[in-house]
Amino acid sequence: MAANPALRDYLKTRRSVGSGFLGDPGPSSEELREILTIGTRVPDHGKFAPWRLVIFEGEGRNRAGEALAAIQKSRRPDLDEASLNIERRQFLPAPLTIGVIFSPRPNTKAPELEQLLSAGNVCFNLSHAAFALGFAASWTNRWYGWDPEAQTALGARGGERFVGFIHIGTPTAVIEDRERPALEDVVTRF
Ligand SMILES: Cc1cc2nc3c(=O)[nH]c(=O)nc-3n(C[C@H](O)[C@H](O)[C@H](O)COP(=O)(O)O)c2cc1C
Repeated sequence: MAANPALRDYLKTRRSVGSGFLGDPGPSSEELREILTIGTRVPDHGKFAPWRLVIFEGEGRNRAGEALAAIQKSRRPDLDEASLNIERRQFLPAPLTIGVIFSPRPNTKAPELEQLLSAGNVCFNLSHAAFALGFAASWTNRWYGWDPEAQTALGARGGERFVGFIHIGTPTAVIEDRERPALEDVVTRF
């Protein structure tokens, strides 16, 4: 494979753009299909795709937010409107969010940890795909990525769990890079 300076530059400068800074336009349906195709092209020991994807777009974003607000309200009936609105807006303003569900299969050849890593690869590859098509993206889990009731409300089935929500759209602000770990701190030679 020939050196690819554009890809190299991208990998050296890529940084997340938070969902609050993602606006329209989002990917078209053809672009979404391409993002999904690239996103699911990941290493997968066992080759049984131990993951599923849930698309939140259009009105679905509001329905998902309402479901999260309803869960919080049922737990804390005194919750104020401002707090409920934060939940209602969990999938806004980003035009598209792809939820990645880890769906492990019992298998001795590819233990669960390896399957989980494959699901993590889907999350990051979806993000790369979004940037490759000219959009920006970020990966969050937030409370509903850990809460069993919320996970079920958003589409996880028994034995499954979300491992990431990849928010995708057009950046509405320039995001400063964050500090990166010094290689000396994280690399050793054997
Ligand atoms: C598994 C996972 C879960 C994350 N969950 C959250 C989250 O809930 N909220 C958040 O603001 N960022 C979350 N992040 C994103 C990162 O904290 C942050 O956006 C990232 O460090 C930015 O790095 P980058 O610019 O290299 O992409 C998560 C990242 C990962 C890998």
